Amino acid sequence: MKKHHVLTSLAMLAAGWFTLSALSPASSSRQTKIPAVADSLKQDPATGLVVDERLNLVVAQCTACHSSKLILQNRFTRDGWKEKIRWMQRTQKLWDLGETEPVVLDYLVKYYGPEQKTFDGRRKPLPTVQWYKL
Ligand code: HEC
Repeated sequence: MKKHHVLTSLAMLAAGWFTLSALSPASSSRQTKIPAVADSLKQDPATGLVVDERLNLVVAQCTACHSSKLILQNRFTRDGWKEKIRWMQRTQKLWDLGETEPVVLDYLVKYYGPEQKTFDGRRKPLPTVQWYKL
């Protein structure tokens, strides 16, 4: 009898928990598991660049002279991207991006920054690999 009693209490607790969790608004946030970056991003079929509201601007400014591949295959910090832009301005006749420059930089560092692994962008090889002798 005692065992039966304990089981009944457990069942009631469980039922109560299910009801509560179904009713509570917090339960809906549990199913929105944050997906990995690459899963949540759309890729522009024409250029391979990540689609967001700045895409058109970046395409216009950055794919006029060369393929988007030069962006896709690189990962730089904000300063790194800025340096590339300065270098193209000095040597490749890239124009002054004016007030679009910070917007372009935001985009580049968000998707093509050092930590990002978007689509084909694989993690950079480790600079020094030390193999253990087994
Ligand atoms: C006016 C023409 C022009 C525009 C516009 C342009 N680039 Fe370039 N970019 C070049 C040239 C030329 C090269 C050298 C290509 C080569 O080496 O084959 C280059 C090279 C690059 C490289 C490779 C640099 C390296 O060190 O290997 C990256 C990355 C790059 N561009 C990104 C961009 C980005 C981002 C934009 C937009 C802000 C942009 N480019 C806009 C002309 C341009």
